[in-house]
Amino acid sequence: MKSADLIVAGCTELITCSGEIPKRKSDLGKLETIKDGCVASIDGKIIFAGSRHNLNREVKLAAGGIYLEADGLIGLPGFIDPHTHLPFAGDRDEEFVLRLQGLTYQELAAKGMGIQTSVKATRTASKEELVNLCLKRLDSMLLMGTTTVEAKSGYGLNQNDEIKQLEALQEADKKHPVDIVPTYMGAHEIPPEYRANKSAYITFLVETMIPVIREKKLAEFFDVFCEEGVYSIEDTRILIRAAHQAGLKTRIHADEFVSLGGARLAAEEGAASADHLIAVSDEGIQSLAKSSTAATLLPHVSFFLMQEKTAPARRLIDEGAVVALATDFNPGSSMTESMLFILRLGVFLLKMSIEEVLNASTANAAFALRRHQTIGSLELEKKMDMVLCDLPNYRHLVYHTGINPVKHVIKNGRIVVKNGRIQPSP
Ligand code: NIG
Ligand code: FE
Repeated sequence: MKSADLIVAGCTELITCSGEIPKRKSDLGKLETIKDGCVASIDGKIIFAGSRHNLNREVKLAAGGIYLEADGLIGLPGFIDPHTHLPFAGDRDEEFVLRLQGLTYQELAAKGMGIQTSVKATRTASKEELVNLCLKRLDSMLLMGTTTVEAKSGYGLNQNDEIKQLEALQEADKKHPVDIVPTYMGAHEIPPEYRANKSAYITFLVETMIPVIREKKLAEFFDVFCEEGVYSIEDTRILIRAAHQAGLKTRIHADEFVSLGGARLAAEEGAASADHLIAVSDEGIQSLAKSSTAATLLPHVSFFLMQEKTAPARRLIDEGAVVALATDFNPGSSMTESMLFILRLGVFLLKMSIEEVLNASTANAAFALRRHQTIGSLELEKKMDMVLCDLPNYRHLVYHTGINPVKHVIKNGRIVVKNGRIQPSP
């Protein structure tokens, strides 16, 4: 008998998202479900996932352990959000109203608004303010079932303010149950100080910032906004290579508005992920399909910018790319913390199946963060990160739009949300 300090017993339906990761082609649409399913863990690690019959034979509850009856609930892995711009200050509601009146996101950027507005606000904010903003947003995420989130800097764009953003993430990570995977995104925009001299800024990133971030261990990933008017393919290649050389993993904002070839570059250079891909070319799709670079799709951006064009999810999946889903939470193009909303948009806008969106926001999202050995599915040896929803079956996660069905959340083997309320840390 194995000894557990937490047993979640009798989920009406347990969705494990288990099996080989990453999930490509038809595998993305396969979802293992177990009726009357149970999961047990010790010290935050899963030691059992299966039927109640086998649980009773193999697992006993240790003294002082917790037994959570999940009758009437469905259980699934915690959602993983592999693309957010979490540590920003201020908001852009006024620019949102201008967009509602017809201005486009790029027109606002060209007028010196957009990302620049958030850079001004974030430079002005103190680290403590940023930490508190992050904690509040992480609460929203957790209440909607997200247990791991990638988070980028990129609204400081100078040494002190980028470091301030990344240190705020480090502190928020220590204080909050949701795990943060930090990304340095000094190449999110060209800072106002370097507008006329982008190449000097690229040199500064390569020679000063990347080594500093690495030495201070402030980020796991490096990200670039590869886009017309921002960083070209050549700029991006230089930056990605410098990041790899310094030992950082990389991701690229690729082919969002203009088909520059960012997806192909990401695959060629071995980036962990190419994100957005609304304007990806056929060649870009083929390169991703042949690579281990995840295609992280952000359907809320098309929705929020009211663009008809969306990323070609079906073609990416059918050709064999590793498709993951994320919020892109940021104040300009995607003001949402909700992976639940993303699942629904994945189905309604991207024409993915319900099974596909579930695997894309758990197992493949973990792969996009290169954390698939430890999270993304409910399997032996993985972290006990689990969501319990008050729904009759998993189809209702998408079918029943607009509600938050999350009842309990378990992070690292601890019940952190109970009956829809965040529990105080011990
Ligand atoms: O992923 N595209 C570039 N960056 C963000 C938007 C950031 C902002 O508008 O503040 C994105 O969409
Ligand atoms: Fe983004």
